[in-house]
Amino acid sequence: MQSSIVLLPGDGIGPEVVAAAERVLRLVADRFGHRFEISSHPIGGAALKSGLPPLPEATRAACQEADAVLLGAVGDPAFDRGSSEGRPETGLLQLRQALGVFANLRPAKVWPGMEDGGPFKPELITGVDLLIVRELLGGIYFGEPRGIAKDRQSAFNTMRYSRPEVERIAEVAFKAAQGRRKLVTSVDKANVLETSRMWRRVVTEVAADYDDVELEHILVDNAAMQIVQMPERFDVMVCDNMFGDILSDEAAAVTGGLGLAASASLGDKGPGIFEPVHGSAPDIAGQGIANPAAMLRTVALMLGHGLGEHEQARAVEQAVDWALETTHTPDLGGVATTQQFGDAVLAALS
Ligand code: NAD
Ligand code: IPM
Ligand code: MN
Repeated sequence: MQSSIVLLPGDGIGPEVVAAAERVLRLVADRFGHRFEISSHPIGGAALKSGLPPLPEATRAACQEADAVLLGAVGDPAFDRGSSEGRPETGLLQLRQALGVFANLRPAKVWPGMEDGGPFKPELITGVDLLIVRELLGGIYFGEPRGIAKDRQSAFNTMRYSRPEVERIAEVAFKAAQGRRKLVTSVDKANVLETSRMWRRVVTEVAADYDDVELEHILVDNAAMQIVQMPERFDVMVCDNMFGDILSDEAAAVTGGLGLAASASLGDKGPGIFEPVHGSAPDIAGQGIANPAAMLRTVALMLGHGLGEHEQARAVEQAVDWALETTHTPDLGGVATTQQFGDAVLAALS
C-alpha cells in the first residue's frame, strides 16, 4: 500500500505537532508496511513570511494531488492587522474551498480514565461521546457581499445558505447518527435568523429519509448551555459554519481540552483535510510543550476516514490513549514536553 500525504505545518505550534505526526506516520509505515510519500508545503503565516500568498499555488496543487492533507494550524499575531488577503487564516479557508471539504467532523469524547483533572466534575462528563458535524463552506464565513465602508465606520458580512448546502451536511449528520446512538440535534438560531429558519426546514425534510434516526432542533444559545450542563445527552450535533466553530471549542473543553480534539474535513470526492480543532496557540508556541494528542488523533482520523486504513487508525488511537495514561503535557496538568508525549506514543505503538 502506498499513499501520498501533504503536511502543512503552518504557524505557531503547528510545526511542533506536525513533527510528532510525522514520527508516528514513519512508525506506522514500518509496522504495517504502508509506504507514505510525505511532502511538506507552506501555508498561512509561514507562506506570507516568505513573500507568498497565504495559500501558495504550489501548495494548493500539491494538496489537490494528494491522498490526504494533514494541517497543523495557521494564525500569527504578526498578521493580525492585515486585511483578509493578508491573513494566514485566509489560506486555510481557500484550501477548504479548493478541496470542496464541506463537512467537518469534530468528535468530542471522554475516554474512560480521563474524567479527572479537568475543570468539570467527573460525574458530569463521564460517558460523553458527541460528534459535531459542522458545515464548512458556507454561511457567514463565505457569504458575499462583505466589506468595510470607505470611511471605515461600518463593516458587514453576509450570512447565506442554499438548500443544497444544508441538504448535504444534514445527510452527513444523519448517516453518522445511523452508526451511533441515532439522535441528531440540529443547532440554529431560528428565532432570529432567516438562514436558520431555512436550515431547520431543510434538515426536517432530510430527516424523512432517515426514519430510524430521531431529530431534535435546539437554539444555539441553549445548545451552548446544555453542552456544559448535560453533555452526555448529545449524539450528533449538526451546525452551521460559525455555530459549529464555537460549539466545537466548547465541546473540546468539556472533554479534556483543545489539546485532545481532532477533526476531519471531508468532501464528496478528493482528499480530505485533517486538522486539529485547535489553532496556532501563540501563547505557548516555541516552548516545546504543546499537546500533540489532538494532532495524533487527527492522524488516526486521516488513516481511517482518509485512507481507509482502519487497523492503522485504531492502532494510533490506542497508542494515544495508552500514552495519556502516563504522560501529560501542561494543558493536562503534567510536565511532559511535546517530544516526551510523542515518545510515549511511539513506545505504545511499537
Ligand atoms: P488556539 O486554539 O490557538 O489556543 C487557545 C488556547 O488553547 C491557548 O491558551 C492555547 O495555548 C491552548 N491550546 C491550543 N492548542 C493546544 C495544544 N495542542 N496543547 C496545549 N494547549 C493548546 O486559539 P486562539 O489563541 O484563539 O488562536 C490563535 C491563532 O490560531 C489565531 O490566529 C487563530 O486564527 C488561529 N486558529 C487556527 C486554527 C486552525 O488552523 N485550524 C484553529 C483555531 C484558531
Ligand atoms: C477552526 C478555526 C478556523 C475556522 C479559522 C482559523 C479560519 O477556528 O478550524 O476551527 O474558523 O474555521
Ligand atoms: Mn475554531
